[in-house]
Amino acid sequence: MSPERSSKIRGEFCIESRAEPGGVVIFGASGDLTSRKLMPALFNLYRRNLLPRNFYVLGCGRSRLTDEAFAFHVRDEFGRIAEFHSDPRLDDFLRQCYYSTGDYDDPAFYDHLRERLGELDGRHATGGNHLFYCSTPPSVYAAIADRLSGAGLAAEGEGGRPWRRVVIEKPFGRDLQSAAALDAELHKVLRERQIYRIDHYLGKETVQNILMFRFANAIFEPIWNRRYVDHVQIMVAESLGVDHRAGYYEKAGALRDMFQNHMLQMLSLVAMEPPTSFDADHVRDEKVKLLRALRPFDPGRANETLVRGQYGPGAMGGKEVPGYLEEPGVDPQSTTETYLAMRLMVDNWRWQGVPFYLRSGKRLCRRVSQIAIAFKPVPHSMFSPIAPEEFEPNLLLLNVQPDEGVSLRIQSKHPGPKLCMSALTMDFTYREAFEEEPPEAYERLLLDCMLGDQTLFVRHDDVIVSWALMTPVLEALADPARQIPLCSYDPGSWGPKEADELLGRDGRVWFNP
Ligand code: BG6
Repeated sequence: MSPERSSKIRGEFCIESRAEPGGVVIFGASGDLTSRKLMPALFNLYRRNLLPRNFYVLGCGRSRLTDEAFAFHVRDEFGRIAEFHSDPRLDDFLRQCYYSTGDYDDPAFYDHLRERLGELDGRHATGGNHLFYCSTPPSVYAAIADRLSGAGLAAEGEGGRPWRRVVIEKPFGRDLQSAAALDAELHKVLRERQIYRIDHYLGKETVQNILMFRFANAIFEPIWNRRYVDHVQIMVAESLGVDHRAGYYEKAGALRDMFQNHMLQMLSLVAMEPPTSFDADHVRDEKVKLLRALRPFDPGRANETLVRGQYGPGAMGGKEVPGYLEEPGVDPQSTTETYLAMRLMVDNWRWQGVPFYLRSGKRLCRRVSQIAIAFKPVPHSMFSPIAPEEFEPNLLLLNVQPDEGVSLRIQSKHPGPKLCMSALTMDFTYREAFEEEPPEAYERLLLDCMLGDQTLFVRHDDVIVSWALMTPVLEALADPARQIPLCSYDPGSWGPKEADELLGRDGRVWFNP
């Protein structure tokens, strides 16, 4: 399908392609992700004419539902979204939604699936293209791929037509070994080009904007290095606790939940070398190269390079909130970290000596994700008696959420006295510039799956390298002999005070919005 290009004014380019005909099969269709994210994303693509006419959705799950009951359930869930409910295209969309009841483990289900898909492909003239979305526990990913292959549903035709693609969500394994084992299982029946590993952070507009910001402007790249950058901070703070996800979170913790994936993905986009083109493998080659340049974790210096924490009980917004240990489903003796801060170093020419400080935690002061590029102070002050250290160094903030945008802190003359200056910020916000909310990450990602564009998906070597980096950290955290403290922090704070000391020792402070 050829891309549609519209160019309204100089400097504005919009290139978007409509998905190819195909059927989207969702395993785990009665689950939360399907109703909260996947179906709304698909309907939004439909409303924006980015789905072809020859398209259908087949939900699959253990719940016994008819096609009509599934469509009813989707409509009901859409009730929360005002503009969906009143959209006249909703009925048409729902007529293209079907459901099959089945057990992912049962080979007989896949025989049924093959027949059902054959019938739906005929009805909708999709050419037999299938996207299988595993919205299931990760433990069944390999089995689903294997059963799809057994039923003849995984193999692509000649020249990749019809295409068969499988989407999986993190976690991709629990450590290096299990991640490698999962890949080996998947690669038995699928080629890498058929596997779409989602890290939803890569679908966020502002995360994609890192690439445009760095490589579609000439003025930033020359200063994006150790000569001008003092350090970088990457933060994902959440105000919610573990909620109803204790079962999963107890076995994960902040390192597996956020660091191995979202945090390292953002770091690699911020720090990688310029790819030659916006081609999936060119971009992903550079990301992996960057991850390979990260200095391996030294367990002997754990206390200098990381701080882990767990939220205690307290109050937020005037309401009592339980500590992590009192959350339903959490072991009262649990040592699972709900906060982690790390200092990482990149051993290459561009970044030698520039620390990257990463932190992420639950029950923090605010929900905010942000990347801060802190520049070096001016080398000399001509504004005597003001010393160079008294100027606030330039700071570039890439605001991932919720106030999506970019801001740059600069020193500026204050009106009035001859020698009077202060720091102010130049702000760009998506909301003001585009007068609309950025689309949901899943929209971009689902469309790209249907277009066969893997740029925003995590390649197998990326998963392996990131686990290779993080597995020694996990081992150190689990080893009592290392005596890495689990620091308590108050709900509504910015994390344990020990994390401030992590930067304080380097003469720096966290940028708390
Ligand atoms: C998920 C984690 O991957 O990302 C969650 O499992 C976390 O624990 C979530 O809350 C954060 O994503 P977002 O898009 O809300 O910042």
